[in-house]
Amino acid sequence: MIPQLCRWQVSPNPESLRDAAVAVIDREARQAIATRGEFHIVLSGGNTPRAVHERLVSLKTDWSAWHIYFGDERCLPTPHPERNSCTAHDAWLGCVGIPPMQIHMIPAELGAVRAAQEYTKVLREVGEFDLVMLGLGEDGHTASLFPGHEWGTAENSPDVLAVHDAPKPPPERVSLSAARLSRARRVMFLVSGASKRDAVSKWRAGELIPASAIAPQSGVDVLLESAATNSNFK
Ligand code: 6PG
Repeated sequence: MIPQLCRWQVSPNPESLRDAAVAVIDREARQAIATRGEFHIVLSGGNTPRAVHERLVSLKTDWSAWHIYFGDERCLPTPHPERNSCTAHDAWLGCVGIPPMQIHMIPAELGAVRAAQEYTKVLREVGEFDLVMLGLGEDGHTASLFPGHEWGTAENSPDVLAVHDAPKPPPERVSLSAARLSRARRVMFLVSGASKRDAVSKWRAGELIPASAIAPQSGVDVLLESAATNSNFK
């Protein structure tokens, strides 16, 4: 595992964090579509990305060139308001013209093991992602890679992991491995809220948390709201 290179960008409030994230997505999409005719993006789950998803509805882009993947999914029936793919669909994907065949949902309703097997087949056809979006949990987790669980950091790790007994409900999840999330031209973390302050401090102090195991060649960009930083952040 190569050491993680972090670039930290602090925004004063959630609105400017949202705008900074949309600007990164827009720039990466333009670059990928201009050079390769396609844009392959991995979406993060949880609540933080919602404002970004809602803003993307009005993005001026060629939606037919977008290919959507999910960094993780919760093993819940579909549709279900707590599924990451459902929240992204309701706020954004269902409102724009991305071809449905290019929205690759994790079939987590099959259960963690079978869904991981099926999604592994999907990713076999995919090379380096253009952009991976990730969140940060209060315990330092990212996607569904949790402390005390397998993160899949080794180069030969499976692309997709079945997650059992996750500390953040639901207990059964599916997650791309740290190795697969790191096979990306760019990785962007989006972190907001005072509840993440402790995890950010540990991360910056060099403690090994799941988020610090994501180590693409180009480093990672951590876009965070100032509320998620503590007083000695500089
Ligand atoms: C999930 C997410 C998870 C999330 C973080 C942050 O399924 O819960 O993939 O990794 O990104 O827990 O969640 P919030 O943005 O809601 O704080």
